Amino acid sequence: MATATHHFPASFLWGTATAGYQVEGQSVNTDFWDWEQGAGHIAAGHTSGRACDWWEGGRWREDFDRAAADGHSAHRLSVEWSRIEPEPGRWDAAALDQYRQMVRGLRARGLTPLVTLHHFVNPRWLAERGGWENPEVVPAFERYVRHVAAALKDDVDLWATINEPNVYMYQGWVNGVFPPGRRDMFAAMRVAATLLRAHAAAYRALHEIQPRAQVGLPIHFRPIQPAQPGFVLDRWVARTQFNLFSALFLEAIGTGRLRQVLRPALAVPEARGTQDYLGLNYYTADVARFDLTIPQELFGRRSFPPGADVDDAGVYASYPPGFFEALEWLHRFKLPIYVTENGIGDEADRLRPRYLLTPLRQLWRAVNFNWDVRGYFHWSLVDNFEWERGWTHRFGLYAVDTATLVRTPRPSAGLYAAVCRSRALSSETVARYAPELLETLFPG
Ligand code: FCB
Repeated sequence: MATATHHFPASFLWGTATAGYQVEGQSVNTDFWDWEQGAGHIAAGHTSGRACDWWEGGRWREDFDRAAADGHSAHRLSVEWSRIEPEPGRWDAAALDQYRQMVRGLRARGLTPLVTLHHFVNPRWLAERGGWENPEVVPAFERYVRHVAAALKDDVDLWATINEPNVYMYQGWVNGVFPPGRRDMFAAMRVAATLLRAHAAAYRALHEIQPRAQVGLPIHFRPIQPAQPGFVLDRWVARTQFNLFSALFLEAIGTGRLRQVLRPALAVPEARGTQDYLGLNYYTADVARFDLTIPQELFGRRSFPPGADVDDAGVYASYPPGFFEALEWLHRFKLPIYVTENGIGDEADRLRPRYLLTPLRQLWRAVNFNWDVRGYFHWSLVDNFEWERGWTHRFGLYAVDTATLVRTPRPSAGLYAAVCRSRALSSETVARYAPELLETLFPG
């Protein structure tokens, strides 16, 4: 084993990511709040309730203090449309002011904000008008984005328009576990086109209001391999699932054409070139096997790569080569890359130290190939309301007791602080937090 330190550039951003609905609490005027009340929608009957109490109790302050004390230099958060526009055309100045205080609070602590404008949740009034199935959402979203940009433009220049449009369309319209709870592949494709149009409109509005804006569309990227590489149908399902999930939106921004299932591609010419950086959300990798019984999954049965570490809920598996594959695939687009999310749900912090260190090693490799990777946002700073899995799936560097709202650092908080403070990954940090990885990460 070698004793060494892998340095990152001084300008590299080190942070964590959160989303408004998951941390703020009491997001009562939203479609997701209504959805939570439906029987069987959320694991163990959990509800978001006060969540991490960022909104009413202002506990963002203490959490940003933690991030600053741990040496983070950035934070990704999202603003909630339902708070800013509680009724169509009525703009809540106090809500915008609270978000302004939050991004200024980050700046005051030396953290660069990255602001997401839509993270899975809609105002109730929008959902009642058909939400993302109604093309009117495009001008409505643009109006909302203009208000946010005007309010925050002095403090924010890194923006994400719509978080993981590929996950959002899948969970809402294919799998049916997010509102509106549909299972209709063709509706999903129409929603994909609408999401892309809204993104393109937001991109242009942001640039008009703030010419230096850096705007991206974070994608949930899942590398996928055929179970039997020699079997043509396994190869076909792996390729089809990749094209219609991980590659779908980025390809459309390149070509102005959105692939569809069993139908010709849709022309979305306004989407071409509407991206200043690539946002990578990476959690897991898949293996796909052809299975005639699951047309809704495009005939592909997914499992995890053999030997991968699987998280608490059995939904994500740590497969470090997949992270490098993701970076390599994105690199072809010749744009700067931010890792806008990466993490693991692991209440006992059993896997997280390994899961943090191995992707960081891959990230360092990419930086050393001179790939333009500019930052890493770990998901997440604190445990938060994990959508359909409620509080059963905990991603925080800090544990949150939902009864008392007390935060307790997990060992990984210390590990990540060591990386952020030194802007480096050292064999000493690995020896302290995951000695079993020393030979793999620092061979020789
Ligand atoms: C991502 C979501 C984020 C969080 C993590 C675990 O897909 O963007 O809100 O739920 O997964």
